[in-house]
Amino acid sequence: MFSVVARHRGEAVGMARIVGDKVLYLLIVDVAVHPDHQGRGLGRRMIDELTRWTSANGTRSTMLVAGPDVVPFYEALGFRPDPGRLMKRP
Ligand SMILES: CC(C)(COP(=O)(O)OP(=O)(O)OC[C@H]1O[C@@H](n2cnc3c(N)ncnc32)[C@H](O)[C@@H]1OP(=O)(O)O)[C@@H](O)C(=O)NCCC(=O)NCCS
Repeated sequence: MFSVVARHRGEAVGMARIVGDKVLYLLIVDVAVHPDHQGRGLGRRMIDELTRWTSANGTRSTMLVAGPDVVPFYEALGFRPDPGRLMKRP
C-alpha cells in the first residue's frame, strides 16, 4: 500500500513498507536500516512517515510483528503489544 526508502548519497540505506488494505487492517513489514546508519533517527523517521500515511487514509488499525529486541523501539513510537490478536500457522 505504501513504502519508504531512506537514501544516503543516492544509495538505499533503509526501507519500511505497509501491506494490507484501506478498509480494516494494515501490516508494517520489512523495516530495516543498514547497520552503518542505525541509531541516527532513520528508523523513527520511516515509521513516522508510515503512520502519517495510515492516519491520512483512515484505516482502523496498524499492526506489526516485532522481535523482542525491537519492542522498545516500537513502543517509543506509540505501538503497544496486543498478544490476543496474532495467530500463526507455521
Ligand atoms: C530496528 C531498526 C529499524 C531501528 O532503526 P534506527 O534507525 O537504528 O532507529 P532510530 O535511530 O530511529 O531510533 C529511534 C529510537 O529508538 C531507539 N532504538 C532503536 N533501536 C532500538 C532497539 N533495538 N531497542 C531499543 N531501542 C531502540 C533509539 O535509541 C532511539 O531512541 P531515542 O529517540 O530515545 O534516541 C534498526 O535497528 C534495524 O534495522 N534493525 C535490524 C532489523 C530489525 O530488527 N527490524 C525490525 C523488524 S520488526
